[in-house]
Amino acid sequence: MKKVVLAYSGGLDTTVCIQWLKDRGFSVIAYCADVGQGEDLRQARRRALACGAVKAVVHDLREEFARDFVIPSLKANAAYEGKYLLATALSRPLIAKYLGDVARKEGAGTVGHGCTGKGNDQVRFEVTLAALAPELEVVAPVREWELKSREEEIVYAQKHRLPIKISKKSPYSLDQNLWGVSIECGALEDPWTEPPEEAYRWTRSPLASPKAPHYVNVDFERGVPVGVNGKRIGLTKLIQQLNGLGSRYGVGRTDLVEDRLVGIKSREVYEAPAGTILQTAHRELESLTLHRELLEFKEIVGQRYARLIYDGLWYTPLKTALDGFIEQTQRGVTGTIRMKLWGGTAVPVGRKSKHALYRKNLATYGAEDTFDQKAAAGCIKIWGLPYRNSGRVHSSHLDR
Ligand code: ARG
Repeated sequence: MKKVVLAYSGGLDTTVCIQWLKDRGFSVIAYCADVGQGEDLRQARRRALACGAVKAVVHDLREEFARDFVIPSLKANAAYEGKYLLATALSRPLIAKYLGDVARKEGAGTVGHGCTGKGNDQVRFEVTLAALAPELEVVAPVREWELKSREEEIVYAQKHRLPIKISKKSPYSLDQNLWGVSIECGALEDPWTEPPEEAYRWTRSPLASPKAPHYVNVDFERGVPVGVNGKRIGLTKLIQQLNGLGSRYGVGRTDLVEDRLVGIKSREVYEAPAGTILQTAHRELESLTLHRELLEFKEIVGQRYARLIYDGLWYTPLKTALDGFIEQTQRGVTGTIRMKLWGGTAVPVGRKSKHALYRKNLATYGAEDTFDQKAAAGCIKIWGLPYRNSGRVHSSHLDR
Protein backbone atom coordinates (compact mmCIF):
# COMPACT_ATOMS: atom_id res chain seq x y z
CA MET A 1 0.00 0.00 0.00
CA LYS A 2 1.21 3.52 -0.81
CA LYS A 3 2.07 5.48 2.30
CA VAL A 4 1.61 9.21 2.71
CA VAL A 5 2.68 11.49 5.54
CA LEU A 6 0.12 14.26 5.82
CA ALA A 7 0.69 17.58 7.59
CA TYR A 8 -2.28 17.50 9.93
CA SER A 9 -3.67 20.39 11.98
CA GLY A 10 -6.84 18.80 13.32
CA GLY A 11 -8.98 21.28 11.38
CA LEU A 12 -11.71 20.49 8.88
CA ASP A 13 -9.60 20.68 5.69
CA THR A 14 -6.89 18.30 6.79
CA THR A 15 -9.41 15.97 8.44
CA VAL A 16 -11.21 15.63 5.12
CA CYS A 17 -7.80 15.12 3.49
CA ILE A 18 -7.27 11.94 5.52
CA GLN A 19 -10.44 10.35 4.16
CA TRP A 20 -9.80 11.59 0.62
CA LEU A 21 -6.31 10.08 0.64
CA LYS A 22 -7.60 6.78 2.06
CA ASP A 23 -10.15 6.67 -0.76
CA ARG A 24 -7.28 6.95 -3.20
CA GLY A 25 -5.53 3.95 -1.76
CA PHE A 26 -3.11 5.62 0.61
CA SER A 27 -2.33 4.53 4.11
CA VAL A 28 -2.14 7.84 5.95
CA ILE A 29 0.32 8.86 8.64
CA ALA A 30 -0.74 12.16 10.23
CA TYR A 31 2.01 14.57 11.20
CA CYS A 32 1.22 17.26 13.80
CA ALA A 33 3.79 19.92 14.67
CA ASP A 34 3.52 22.12 17.71
CA VAL A 35 4.87 25.52 16.70
CA GLY A 36 3.05 27.28 19.51
CA GLN A 37 -0.37 27.50 17.89
CA GLY A 38 -1.89 26.92 21.31
CA GLU A 39 -4.08 24.04 20.24
CA ASP A 40 -4.38 20.67 21.90
CA LEU A 41 -2.39 18.36 19.68
CA ARG A 42 -3.31 15.30 21.72
CA GLN A 43 -6.83 15.92 20.52
CA ALA A 44 -5.63 16.34 16.93
CA ARG A 45 -3.76 13.07 17.29
CA ARG A 46 -6.87 11.24 18.52
CA ARG A 47 -8.95 12.74 15.74
CA ALA A 48 -6.46 11.66 13.06
CA LEU A 49 -6.55 8.09 14.35
CA ALA A 50 -10.34 8.16 14.62
CA CYS A 51 -10.47 9.20 10.96
CA GLY A 52 -8.49 6.17 9.97
CA ALA A 53 -4.90 7.39 9.95
CA VAL A 54 -2.69 4.37 10.62
CA LYS A 55 -0.40 6.45 12.79
CA ALA A 56 -0.14 9.98 14.16
CA VAL A 57 3.20 11.57 14.96
CA VAL A 58 3.32 14.68 17.17
CA HIS A 59 6.43 16.80 17.64
CA ASP A 60 6.94 19.78 19.89
CA LEU A 61 8.94 22.09 17.62
CA ARG A 62 8.50 25.31 19.59
CA GLU A 63 12.06 25.67 20.77
CA GLU A 64 13.53 24.89 17.35
CA PHE A 65 11.05 27.23 15.70
CA ALA A 66 12.03 30.06 18.02
CA ARG A 67 15.78 29.45 17.86
CA ASP A 68 16.34 28.56 14.22
CA PHE A 69 13.55 30.41 12.42
CA VAL A 70 12.22 33.31 14.50
CA ILE A 71 15.63 34.49 15.71
CA PRO A 72 17.32 34.71 12.29
CA SER A 73 14.28 36.65 11.09
CA LEU A 74 14.49 38.99 14.09
CA LYS A 75 18.21 39.58 13.53
CA ALA A 76 17.35 40.56 9.95
CA ASN A 77 14.43 42.79 11.11
CA ALA A 78 12.43 40.96 8.45
CA ALA A 79 9.01 42.42 7.65
CA TYR A 80 7.42 41.53 4.33
CA GLU A 81 6.28 44.61 2.43
CA GLY A 82 7.34 46.56 5.47
CA LYS A 83 4.61 45.18 7.72
CA TYR A 84 4.19 41.41 8.00
CA LEU A 85 6.51 39.72 10.52
CA LEU A 86 6.13 36.41 8.68
CA ALA A 87 4.82 34.13 11.45
CA THR A 88 3.08 31.73 9.07
CA ALA A 89 5.82 31.90 6.45
CA LEU A 90 8.54 31.02 8.99
CA SER A 91 6.75 27.92 10.26
CA ARG A 92 6.32 26.23 6.88
CA PRO A 93 9.91 25.27 6.09
CA LEU A 94 10.29 23.80 9.58
CA ILE A 95 7.13 21.71 9.30
CA ALA A 96 8.09 20.63 5.78
CA LYS A 97 11.55 19.57 6.96
CA TYR A 98 9.98 17.24 9.53
CA LEU A 99 7.40 15.98 7.04
CA GLY A 100 10.28 14.87 4.87
CA ASP A 101 12.13 13.33 7.82
CA VAL A 102 9.09 11.40 8.99
CA ALA A 103 8.34 10.20 5.44
CA ARG A 104 11.86 8.81 5.12
CA LYS A 105 11.70 7.17 8.52
CA GLU A 106 8.34 5.60 7.80
CA GLY A 107 9.30 4.54 4.29
CA ALA A 108 6.60 6.70 2.72
CA GLY A 109 7.08 7.87 -0.85
CA THR A 110 4.57 10.69 -0.63
CA VAL A 111 3.88 13.68 1.61
CA GLY A 112 0.67 15.68 1.69
CA HIS A 113 -0.54 19.07 2.83
CA GLY A 114 -3.91 20.78 3.08
CA CYS A 115 -3.02 24.05 1.33
CA THR A 116 -5.15 25.56 -1.40
CA GLY A 117 -3.81 26.39 -4.83
CA LYS A 118 -4.14 30.13 -4.26
CA GLY A 119 -1.81 30.69 -1.36
CA ASN A 120 1.85 30.89 -0.43
CA ASP A 121 1.90 27.98 1.96
CA GLN A 122 1.78 25.34 -0.79
CA VAL A 123 4.88 26.97 -2.29
CA ARG A 124 6.73 27.02 1.03
CA PHE A 125 5.98 23.37 1.77
CA GLU A 126 6.83 22.12 -1.67
CA VAL A 127 9.95 24.17 -2.32
CA THR A 128 11.33 23.08 1.07
CA LEU A 129 10.57 19.45 0.26
CA ALA A 130 12.12 19.83 -3.18
CA ALA A 131 15.32 21.08 -1.56
CA LEU A 132 15.50 18.63 1.35
CA ALA A 133 13.77 15.48 0.12
CA PRO A 134 13.60 15.72 -3.67
CA GLU A 135 12.71 12.06 -4.11
CA LEU A 136 9.33 12.47 -2.42
CA GLU A 137 6.05 12.97 -4.26
CA VAL A 138 3.70 15.66 -3.01
CA VAL A 139 -0.06 15.41 -2.95
CA ALA A 140 -2.28 18.41 -2.24
CA PRO A 141 -5.88 17.17 -1.98
CA VAL A 142 -7.47 20.61 -1.52
CA ARG A 143 -5.99 21.66 -4.88
CA GLU A 144 -7.52 18.65 -6.55
CA TRP A 145 -10.82 17.80 -4.97
CA GLU A 146 -14.25 18.93 -6.12
CA LEU A 147 -15.37 20.21 -2.72
CA LYS A 148 -16.12 23.85 -3.31
CA SER A 149 -16.91 25.21 0.12
CA ARG A 150 -16.72 24.58 3.81
CA GLU A 151 -20.33 23.39 3.70
CA GLU A 152 -19.49 20.74 1.09
CA GLU A 153 -16.55 19.62 3.20
CA ILE A 154 -18.84 19.24 6.19
CA VAL A 155 -21.31 17.16 4.15
CA TYR A 156 -18.42 15.00 2.94
CA ALA A 157 -17.14 14.58 6.50
CA GLN A 158 -20.59 13.66 7.81
CA LYS A 159 -21.14 11.18 4.98
CA HIS A 160 -17.91 9.43 6.01
CA ARG A 161 -18.68 9.80 9.72
CA LEU A 162 -15.51 11.77 10.38
CA PRO A 163 -15.36 13.09 13.95
CA ILE A 164 -15.42 16.80 13.20
CA LYS A 165 -16.45 19.46 15.63
CA ILE A 166 -18.92 21.72 13.83
CA SER A 167 -18.39 24.95 15.64
CA LYS A 168 -20.25 28.09 14.76
CA LYS A 169 -18.62 29.05 11.54
CA SER A 170 -16.03 31.75 12.01
CA PRO A 171 -15.85 33.73 8.78
CA TYR A 172 -12.08 34.06 9.16
CA SER A 173 -9.25 31.79 8.13
CA LEU A 174 -6.59 31.63 10.81
CA ASP A 175 -3.06 30.44 11.19
CA GLN A 176 -1.29 30.84 14.52
CA ASN A 177 2.05 30.11 16.09
CA LEU A 178 4.46 31.48 18.67
CA TRP A 179 5.35 34.46 16.46
CA GLY A 180 1.86 35.60 15.56
CA VAL A 181 -1.58 35.10 14.07
CA SER A 182 -2.51 35.51 10.40
CA ILE A 183 -6.13 36.31 9.71
CA GLU A 184 -7.88 36.42 6.35
CA CYS A 185 -11.31 36.08 4.66
CA GLY A 186 -14.72 37.26 5.87
CA ALA A 187 -15.16 41.01 6.13
CA LEU A 188 -11.44 41.46 5.46
CA GLU A 189 -11.93 40.65 1.78
CA ASP A 190 -13.18 44.21 1.28
CA PRO A 191 -10.06 46.37 1.62
CA TRP A 192 -12.22 49.43 2.34
CA THR A 193 -13.75 47.80 5.42
CA GLU A 194 -11.99 48.41 8.70
CA PRO A 195 -11.16 45.06 10.37
CA PRO A 196 -14.01 44.33 12.78
CA GLU A 197 -12.86 44.03 16.37
CA GLU A 198 -13.87 40.34 16.43
CA ALA A 199 -11.38 39.54 13.67
CA TYR A 200 -8.53 39.89 16.17
CA ARG A 201 -7.56 36.84 18.21
CA TRP A 202 -4.86 37.83 20.66
CA THR A 203 -4.81 41.56 21.18
CA ARG A 204 -7.13 43.79 23.10
CA SER A 205 -8.33 46.85 21.29
CA PRO A 206 -5.83 49.67 21.82
CA LEU A 207 -8.84 51.68 23.03
CA ALA A 208 -9.46 49.16 25.79
CA SER A 209 -5.84 48.86 26.87
CA PRO A 210 -4.90 50.05 30.38
CA LYS A 211 -4.68 53.82 30.75
CA ALA A 212 -1.26 53.86 32.35
CA PRO A 213 1.71 52.96 30.13
CA HIS A 214 3.73 49.87 30.93
CA TYR A 215 7.51 49.86 30.76
CA VAL A 216 9.49 46.74 29.95
CA ASN A 217 13.24 46.30 29.52
CA VAL A 218 14.42 43.81 26.93
CA ASP A 219 18.00 42.50 27.15
CA PHE A 220 19.80 41.36 24.01
CA GLU A 221 23.04 39.48 23.48
CA ARG A 222 24.46 39.46 19.97
CA GLY A 223 21.06 40.29 18.54
CA VAL A 224 19.21 37.62 20.53
CA PRO A 225 16.69 38.57 23.25
CA VAL A 226 17.83 36.81 26.42
CA GLY A 227 15.99 38.50 29.25
CA VAL A 228 13.13 40.69 30.36
CA ASN A 229 13.54 43.30 33.10
CA GLY A 230 16.99 41.96 33.91
CA LYS A 231 15.84 38.37 34.39
CA ARG A 232 17.25 35.77 32.01
CA ILE A 233 14.57 33.68 30.38
CA GLY A 234 14.41 31.01 27.67
CA LEU A 235 13.38 32.05 24.20
CA THR A 236 9.99 30.36 23.96
CA LYS A 237 8.96 31.67 27.38
CA LEU A 238 10.26 35.13 26.59
CA ILE A 239 8.19 35.32 23.40
CA GLN A 240 5.11 33.99 25.20
CA GLN A 241 5.54 36.50 28.00
CA LEU A 242 5.82 39.43 25.59
CA ASN A 243 2.84 38.15 23.60
CA GLY A 244 0.77 38.25 26.77
CA LEU A 245 2.01 41.68 27.78
CA GLY A 246 1.76 43.21 24.32
CA SER A 247 -1.74 41.82 23.80
CA ARG A 248 -2.97 43.62 26.91
CA TYR A 249 -1.77 46.91 25.46
CA GLY A 250 -3.14 46.27 21.97
CA VAL A 251 0.37 46.06 20.50
CA GLY A 252 1.26 44.38 17.21
CA ARG A 253 -1.78 44.68 14.95
CA THR A 254 -1.21 45.21 11.25
CA ASP A 255 -3.58 45.47 8.35
CA LEU A 256 -2.21 45.23 4.84
CA VAL A 257 -2.85 44.40 1.22
CA GLU A 258 0.01 42.08 0.34
CA ASP A 259 1.37 40.49 -2.80
CA ARG A 260 1.20 36.73 -2.80
CA LEU A 261 3.74 34.75 -4.75
CA VAL A 262 1.01 33.43 -7.04
CA GLY A 263 0.26 36.97 -8.23
CA ILE A 264 -2.83 37.72 -6.17
CA LYS A 265 -3.13 40.78 -3.98
CA SER A 266 -4.78 39.87 -0.74
CA ARG A 267 -5.92 41.80 2.32
CA GLU A 268 -4.70 40.29 5.55
CA VAL A 269 -4.59 41.20 9.18
CA TYR A 270 -1.84 40.11 11.54
CA GLU A 271 -1.17 40.16 15.24
CA ALA A 272 2.38 39.84 16.49
CA PRO A 273 2.69 41.49 19.90
CA ALA A 274 6.02 39.94 20.92
CA GLY A 275 7.34 40.26 17.38
CA THR A 276 6.52 43.95 17.28
CA ILE A 277 8.07 44.67 20.69
CA LEU A 278 11.18 42.63 19.89
CA GLN A 279 11.76 43.91 16.37
CA THR A 280 11.25 47.53 17.44
CA ALA A 281 13.65 47.03 20.34
CA HIS A 282 16.17 45.18 18.19
CA ARG A 283 16.18 47.92 15.56
CA GLU A 284 16.72 50.47 18.30
CA LEU A 285 19.70 48.59 19.70
CA GLU A 286 21.18 48.40 16.21
CA SER A 287 20.76 52.17 15.85
CA LEU A 288 22.82 52.58 19.00
CA THR A 289 25.58 50.11 18.13
CA LEU A 290 26.00 49.96 14.32
CA HIS A 291 27.48 52.47 11.89
CA ARG A 292 25.29 54.37 9.50
CA GLU A 293 26.65 52.65 6.39
CA LEU A 294 26.05 49.23 7.87
CA LEU A 295 22.56 50.12 9.09
CA GLU A 296 21.58 51.33 5.67
CA PHE A 297 22.92 48.30 3.84
CA LYS A 298 21.52 45.89 6.41
CA GLU A 299 18.08 47.38 5.85
CA ILE A 300 18.28 46.34 2.21
CA VAL A 301 19.46 42.86 3.20
CA GLY A 302 16.57 42.63 5.67
CA GLN A 303 14.02 43.43 2.98
CA ARG A 304 15.49 40.80 0.70
CA TYR A 305 15.55 38.34 3.59
CA ALA A 306 11.87 38.99 4.31
CA ARG A 307 11.01 38.28 0.71
CA LEU A 308 12.90 35.03 0.59
CA ILE A 309 11.10 33.87 3.74
CA TYR A 310 7.79 34.86 2.21
CA ASP A 311 8.64 33.11 -1.04
CA GLY A 312 9.52 29.81 0.62
CA LEU A 313 13.26 30.02 -0.14
CA TRP A 314 14.50 29.20 3.38
CA TYR A 315 16.65 26.23 2.41
CA THR A 316 18.59 27.97 -0.33
CA PRO A 317 22.14 29.25 -0.78
CA LEU A 318 20.95 32.87 -0.80
CA LYS A 319 19.49 32.46 2.68
CA THR A 320 22.69 30.85 3.99
CA ALA A 321 24.83 33.58 2.46
CA LEU A 322 22.69 36.39 3.87
CA ASP A 323 22.82 34.68 7.28
CA GLY A 324 26.59 34.97 7.12
CA PHE A 325 26.33 38.71 6.61
CA ILE A 326 23.62 39.24 9.22
CA GLU A 327 25.43 37.15 11.84
CA GLN A 328 28.55 39.28 11.38
CA THR A 329 26.52 42.44 12.03
CA GLN A 330 25.14 41.16 15.33
CA ARG A 331 28.43 40.78 17.22
CA GLY A 332 28.02 44.08 19.04
CA VAL A 333 24.23 44.08 19.27
CA THR A 334 24.25 43.54 23.02
CA GLY A 335 22.46 45.76 25.47
CA THR A 336 19.09 46.76 26.87
CA ILE A 337 16.16 48.61 25.37
CA ARG A 338 13.46 50.11 27.53
CA MET A 339 10.08 49.86 25.79
CA LYS A 340 6.95 51.79 26.63
CA LEU A 341 3.69 49.99 25.83
CA TRP A 342 0.55 52.02 25.64
CA GLY A 343 -2.59 52.30 23.53
CA GLY A 344 -1.49 49.90 20.80
CA THR A 345 2.05 51.24 20.54
CA ALA A 346 5.45 49.90 21.56
CA VAL A 347 7.96 52.74 21.64
CA PRO A 348 11.63 52.59 22.64
CA VAL A 349 12.29 55.20 25.30
CA GLY A 350 15.66 54.16 26.69
CA ARG A 351 18.70 52.33 25.38
CA LYS A 352 22.07 51.23 26.74
CA SER A 353 24.91 49.06 25.54
CA LYS A 354 28.57 48.52 26.33
CA HIS A 355 29.05 48.73 22.55
CA ALA A 356 27.11 51.99 22.16
CA LEU A 357 28.62 54.25 19.52
CA TYR A 358 26.80 57.21 21.02
CA ARG A 359 29.26 59.58 22.69
CA LYS A 360 27.83 62.24 24.92
CA ASN A 361 30.99 64.37 24.74
CA LEU A 362 30.56 64.58 20.95
CA ALA A 363 26.79 65.09 20.90
CA THR A 364 26.39 67.53 23.78
CA TYR A 365 25.84 71.27 23.55
CA GLY A 366 26.96 71.51 27.16
CA ALA A 367 30.30 72.22 28.76
CA GLU A 368 31.75 68.69 28.28
CA ASP A 369 31.80 69.18 24.49
CA THR A 370 35.01 67.84 22.92
CA PHE A 371 33.90 68.08 19.28
CA ASP A 372 36.20 70.30 17.20
CA GLN A 373 33.70 72.69 15.66
CA LYS A 374 36.40 74.52 13.69
CA ALA A 375 37.24 71.31 11.84
CA ALA A 376 33.67 71.22 10.45
CA ALA A 377 34.47 74.09 8.07
CA GLY A 378 37.11 72.08 6.17
CA CYS A 379 34.89 69.03 6.08
CA ILE A 380 32.06 71.02 4.49
CA LYS A 381 34.43 72.71 2.05
CA ILE A 382 35.50 69.39 0.56
CA TRP A 383 32.03 67.79 0.80
CA GLY A 384 30.51 70.74 -1.09
CA LEU A 385 33.34 71.00 -3.64
CA PRO A 386 31.47 69.37 -6.57
CA TYR A 387 28.59 71.81 -6.17
CA ARG A 388 30.81 74.85 -5.80
CA ASN A 389 32.39 73.71 -9.05
CA SER A 390 29.11 73.18 -10.93
CA GLY A 391 27.75 76.36 -9.40
CA ARG A 392 30.44 78.23 -11.27
CA VAL A 393 29.95 76.33 -14.55
CA HIS A 394 26.16 76.62 -14.85
CA SER A 395 24.56 80.00 -15.21
CA SER A 396 21.05 79.28 -13.98
CA HIS A 397 19.66 76.93 -11.38
CA LEU A 398 17.81 75.10 -14.18
CA ASP A 399 21.13 73.63 -15.36
CA ARG A 400 22.05 72.18 -12.00
N1 ARG B 1 -0.70 35.61 3.92
C1 ARG B 1 0.09 35.04 4.95
C2 ARG B 1 1.24 34.30 4.35
O1 ARG B 1 1.24 34.03 3.20
C3 ARG B 1 -0.70 34.19 5.88
C4 ARG B 1 -1.22 32.93 5.35
C5 ARG B 1 -2.10 32.29 6.32
N2 ARG B 1 -2.23 30.89 6.05
C6 ARG B 1 -3.34 30.21 6.28
N3 ARG B 1 -3.31 28.93 6.04
N4 ARG B 1 -4.43 30.79 6.73
O2 ARG B 1 2.19 34.01 5.02
